[in-house]
Amino acid sequence: MPETTPKGLTRLAFGGDYNPEQWPESVWQEDVRLMREAGVSMVSVGIFSWALLEPAPGAYDFGWLDRLLDLLHANGVRVDLGTPTVVPPVWFYREHPEALPVTADGTRYEFGSRGAICHSNADYRAAAARITTELARRYGDHPALAMWHVHNEYGVPVSACYCDSCAAHFRRWLADAYGTVDAVNEAWGTAFWGQRYTGLEQINPPRVTPTAGNPAQALDYKRFADATIRENFVAERDILHRLSPGVPVTTNFMTALSQCDSLDYWAWGREVDLVTNDHYLITDGRRTHVNLAMAADLTRSVAGGAPWLLLEHSTSGVNWQARNPAKAPGQMARNSLAHVARGSEGAMFFQWRQSRRGAEKFHSAMVPHGGTDTRVWREVVELGASLGALHEIRGTRTRPDVAVLWDWHSWWAQNLEWRPSEDHDARERADSFYEALYDRHLTVDFAHPEADLSAYPLVVVPALYLMTEAAGRNLRTYVENGGTLLVSYFSGIVDEHDAVHEGAHPGALRDVLGLTVEEFSPLLEGESVRVTGPGGVPDLAADVWTEFVVPRGAETVWSYADGLTAGRPAVTRHRLGEGTAWYVSTRLAADGLDAVLARAAEDAGLPPRTGLPRDVEVVLRTGESGTYLFALNHTGTDAEVPLETPGTELLTGERAAGGVEVPAGAVRVVRLDG
Ligand code: GLA
Ligand code: ZN
Repeated sequence: MPETTPKGLTRLAFGGDYNPEQWPESVWQEDVRLMREAGVSMVSVGIFSWALLEPAPGAYDFGWLDRLLDLLHANGVRVDLGTPTVVPPVWFYREHPEALPVTADGTRYEFGSRGAICHSNADYRAAAARITTELARRYGDHPALAMWHVHNEYGVPVSACYCDSCAAHFRRWLADAYGTVDAVNEAWGTAFWGQRYTGLEQINPPRVTPTAGNPAQALDYKRFADATIRENFVAERDILHRLSPGVPVTTNFMTALSQCDSLDYWAWGREVDLVTNDHYLITDGRRTHVNLAMAADLTRSVAGGAPWLLLEHSTSGVNWQARNPAKAPGQMARNSLAHVARGSEGAMFFQWRQSRRGAEKFHSAMVPHGGTDTRVWREVVELGASLGALHEIRGTRTRPDVAVLWDWHSWWAQNLEWRPSEDHDARERADSFYEALYDRHLTVDFAHPEADLSAYPLVVVPALYLMTEAAGRNLRTYVENGGTLLVSYFSGIVDEHDAVHEGAHPGALRDVLGLTVEEFSPLLEGESVRVTGPGGVPDLAADVWTEFVVPRGAETVWSYADGLTAGRPAVTRHRLGEGTAWYVSTRLAADGLDAVLARAAEDAGLPPRTGLPRDVEVVLRTGESGTYLFALNHTGTDAEVPLETPGTELLTGERAAGGVEVPAGAVRVVRLDG
């Protein structure tokens, strides 16, 4: 069994990407002094260093990295060592220009940035294996080594390549997946529009076509691209396992749905020893702490509930958005501890010392351009101390209340061309349902639609367009055995090949929901409808989508009050076996989602969390060392969070009973007695 925790790390992880090759070695001395001052426990090193480590083919220069690792070790800083395979040196590309990836319209990218890789390219694969082997041999048992950091953020910025070697690789992938060309024809529905193939060798990647391409081909290409990239991770991981036993291997994910959309992290989570994640606030006007919580919950879920590690976030602003606001005072600590509340074993950053040159010089860092006489540095030192005070939570697990189903394959399928409405967006529904649950102070586990759901009183399905028959059966069993299910529209429509399930919609869910959908009836831009509940239940506004729903066992709880579907069911409830299945056939705004959720939560027997203001987040971590209540106040007003059990607040050392004061913008962590 491979190790799953950073070797030799006895504290929560605190530190960042450390790229000292940008500075003379004299600066390194100051770096380690400041690291000690801030309580840095681990740094990520060498992620982009291939060109320095192998300046010419087969000629290695490890001297600087030897000195660096020894220096860090001497200063008590553990090392997360990168394999630098995300940026091969220029000499490699000049020898192997076909290793540069090609876009769907035939453009070949040039060297000069990062992540320009055709993952099918045999020369790239061989070169990556060589440098990984060299590093593993040299540093596999270095005393500073805590874990291996393979590559960097697989899947971005290039999620798929469309070159000829990828075409050949895709055909091999199809042969493995389907066996024969006839099976591919059947799965892709090539009888339509005369797309029938008579040999696998005729099949190409879904390159640019004059109008909509074959959707099942496009979906399979997404699967193929994901699997191909994963093959390269696994190849490096296996080298590291062999040559550096006992050291966990990770690669940094970007689970936030807005930050990477091309990897199936359910599959990736099974391949890494320790799940790590990068998270950056997207400042799009929405509540960034909700997006953060969602990404953290998704990361923990991908880790199967086990502790994971936030490997990158920012001390303040980033530099790759159109507008990059600085973080407010206290926000960095609140962000960090929000990840920790949801299962992270620490908080790390991009990057340690802010660059003076290169593409990311305006990205914040732990040591800003302004040095140590700065607000950011003082907050960094303070955060180091806070994480030091929380060391005993290591190994505890976040306690979930409900599950939300999520599946990258379904998301990919739903985003293909020519759907009933481009205004319907699976991610928007996932975000909105998550936000509604967050606002009810419920902690969310994400789950794959075929996972065992029996532990959850409530399961929410925001938009799961692609659902296998097995997933449909899974949900039916879940409800029959007493679960409460809440399903949003346009779920359970197609199978794994993007083929509509036989019979009326929603094919995978008809029985469990007790209804059929005769027709989708999306609304025009700006159009909305009202839905009316039974006596006393308020009217709700809805937009984007309506449907002609025919109840077949379900009761109608809200109906459409106007529009084409006026008088028909809008929200239904179906008792099945011991449980209940709710269906929402339109896009409800926040108040509507909350109203429906309140009813579903009642069916699920989930008691409402009273006495908690909006934007005061409460999360529990629990394990052998105790139960810890994290209270995060994202508001500008002091708050009091009720405590059922008294305890000790770990950041102030104070006792708390009945409730804990959480000042505006602050975080409190109470170890509950017992
Ligand atoms: C990503 C990368 C880092 C850096 C940051 C900047 O997470 O992994 O190298 O570019 O973004 O936000
Ligand atoms: Zn390629």
